[in-house]
Amino acid sequence: MRSLLPNHSVTVIIPAGGSGERLGASIPKALVSLAGRTLIEHCVSNVAPIANQIIVAAPAGYEDQFRTLLGDDILVVTGGVARADSVRAALQHATSDFTLVHDAARSLASAELAGRVIDALASGEKAVIPVMAVIDTIKYVDHNNFVVATHDRSSLRAVQTPQGFETSTLKEAHATSQDATDDAGLVEALNIPVKIVDGEERAFKITLPEDLVRAQKFLIGETTTNIRVGIGTDAHAFSANPQRQMWLAGLLWSDEVGVDGHSDGDVAAHAICDALFSAAQLGDLGSNFGVSEPEWAGASGAKLLQETLNRIRAAGFEINNVSVQIVGNRPKIGPRRAEAIAALSAALDGAPVSLSATTTDGLGFTGEGKGISAIASVLLRATDRIS
Ligand code: CTP
Ligand code: MG
Repeated sequence: MRSLLPNHSVTVIIPAGGSGERLGASIPKALVSLAGRTLIEHCVSNVAPIANQIIVAAPAGYEDQFRTLLGDDILVVTGGVARADSVRAALQHATSDFTLVHDAARSLASAELAGRVIDALASGEKAVIPVMAVIDTIKYVDHNNFVVATHDRSSLRAVQTPQGFETSTLKEAHATSQDATDDAGLVEALNIPVKIVDGEERAFKITLPEDLVRAQKFLIGETTTNIRVGIGTDAHAFSANPQRQMWLAGLLWSDEVGVDGHSDGDVAAHAICDALFSAAQLGDLGSNFGVSEPEWAGASGAKLLQETLNRIRAAGFEINNVSVQIVGNRPKIGPRRAEAIAALSAALDGAPVSLSATTTDGLGFTGEGKGISAIASVLLRATDRIS
């Protein structure tokens, strides 16, 4: 986390204590997944660039799950019965000059939007809210379903979050009044002027199931530009030594004679490592685990996969999927395919792995039964992790 404004520190409070009844999922809304990440993770990583401190109010009973997801930089407190209770629970820990209150449900709101709110606070405003023009004409109606009045649309605005405040003003507002549908409402009750800045489409609130589809559309552009493909291959000759163990796709094949080589000869694991390094532009197996790092000599395929994953993560990537094909006459992969997929996936922290196998119709060194090879391709996505 860092501040764009060195002179002013910023706390972001994220009320995420709701159950998401209207979304209708079996878990709290903030834990619902969107494009491979939970809504609360999207929300936190979007505002992290402008925050010195982030406090998340989690639904009671889910605090530890939130802590595991968000890491040690984020303070997680227990949310309350109503949204305002959740905000209050977090507000007591706010230590910055400015505090932004931002719904977890507006998960895609950008750091630029938060930046506009902070800029207005930095210019001296005590309370700032992002708003959108109202497109539909709004009418007052009565209980008998008749129109009572039509409001002039040009003076109406729809309100979003993050709403920004001088921290002392927000604390005073929450201490003196309990009743308002948003935080700015509490400040208005103190007769403190609330300034508006331009909101943004992507800060819409995810409320109904169809809102997840809308959110997905905002992300499609980003996900397709932030993906990397990688390819890797490996081959080894079968050993003349009948005692040589066969390790393949993270499994020991005890009825088979293994392959020659300094390592365990797991061609599937090695091909995947190469594909991962290649997609992340981090060189290859040799340049990572070669002579310069002798501690990896003789490491198992599974160990190398784990370390490769560590390195591509450190470079800012996550695995979308891994596909590997084993080429050779033996062993027969089919009966142990599920087991092999589970072993490879476990070494890659649960990443989706698929495994196919083929023979080559008697052709080439694999067809002649001299050796075994593997080809892997992977898809990575760039991550913007909370630093
Ligand atoms: N919120 C909260 N504590 C509550 C209720 C709501 O922190 N007791 C948070 C929600 O998690 C959400 C934000 O306030 O990020 C706005 O609320 P809303 O979108 O209405 O979310 P939910 O209350 O979870 O959804 P629903 O009303 O459909 O149950
Ligand atoms: Mg609600």
